[in-house]
Amino acid sequence: MAKEAKTDQEEELFEETLRPKKFGEYIGQNKVKENLKIAIEAALKRKDTLDHVLLYGPPGLGKTTLACVIANEIGGNLRITSGPAIERPGDLASILTNLEDGDILFIDEIHRLSRVVEEILYPAMEEGAIDIIVGKGPSARSIRLDLPCFTIIGATTKIGAISSPLRDRFGIVHQLDFYNEAEIEQIIHRSAKILAIEINKTASKELSKRARKTPRTANRLLKRARDYSEVKGEGFIDEKLVKEALEMIEIDKMGLDKTDKKVLEAIINKFSGGPVGLETLAAATSEDKETIETVYEPYLMQIGFIERTPRGRKTTHLAHKHLGIKSKENQNKLL
Ligand SMILES: Nc1ncnc2c1ncn2[C@@H]1O[C@H](COP(=O)(O)OP(=O)(O)O)[C@@H](O)[C@H]1O
Ligand SMILES: [Mg+2]
Repeated sequence: MAKEAKTDQEEELFEETLRPKKFGEYIGQNKVKENLKIAIEAALKRKDTLDHVLLYGPPGLGKTTLACVIANEIGGNLRITSGPAIERPGDLASILTNLEDGDILFIDEIHRLSRVVEEILYPAMEEGAIDIIVGKGPSARSIRLDLPCFTIIGATTKIGAISSPLRDRFGIVHQLDFYNEAEIEQIIHRSAKILAIEINKTASKELSKRARKTPRTANRLLKRARDYSEVKGEGFIDEKLVKEALEMIEIDKMGLDKTDKKVLEAIINKFSGGPVGLETLAAATSEDKETIETVYEPYLMQIGFIERTPRGRKTTHLAHKHLGIKSKENQNKLL
């Protein structure tokens, strides 16, 4: 437990060091950046606050980072909280009343706000005020408190879990996409430079193929390769070393790990390739349903290994080929 907490802290510190501060350092997501730049410039020109922003997409694609970049570019203080951290309406009321003009309030995992807390947010976002109840019983009355001018940036991995009244109160909504290999390579180069890691071009290419098109994963794999090179190598990273290091932690050529394979193999072997419902799949793999849905599945769908149908998840021939398993159609042909 203590060891895990320590690794978590280390991990956070590591992410902090590598986090881009300005648009210029934020690689990829060009459309989103262009749109945000215009909105920020317009708000600055009008001396107005930026509209509320909602960012969504799988973990590790740069939502928190982008919130920091927006705050830096607009020159506002960033206050950070998260859906699960705000338990009662009073918690949110106190956060909101303590804001200062121009502040940016980042609410991570905003889909996890409870309904009663959410209801405080509606007037806060729309009218810049909250209503609080003073007194009890028949003498209770509601008074309206005006709030400073602020911007909320919400982030979520589950856009579908956000209620429509909340979603409608965000003027700017952007989905973050997976990165292409060239962009991931750029991110690896940037991180290697910051951390003073020696890595050659073929090695960073190899790493980028296995990074699940995700910056966080790219940075983690780079770190694992560095550790490996310090212990087993000469302190620099080449292609051979990347392959050895990743083989040791069981990350394959496409970036799939043990859990990805377990999920794919369960669909193929236990459910003849699907379709299988998420709940059944979670039970069959002893993995958490939400983790499969938000962490594993998005990448497997992105590379075309899994398809989502109304009746559940199906594996594709690409997945069967990658795992060296004959697909259902081929097996049928053989019979
Ligand atoms: N566009 C980007 N350019 C460079 N590095 C990035 C980019 N997006 C994310 N990162 C890196 O990946 C890590 C994870 O990003 P983060 O913003 O925490 O993801 P999310 O909040 O979406 O889970 C950060 O530490 C950051 O260094
Ligand atoms: Mg985040």
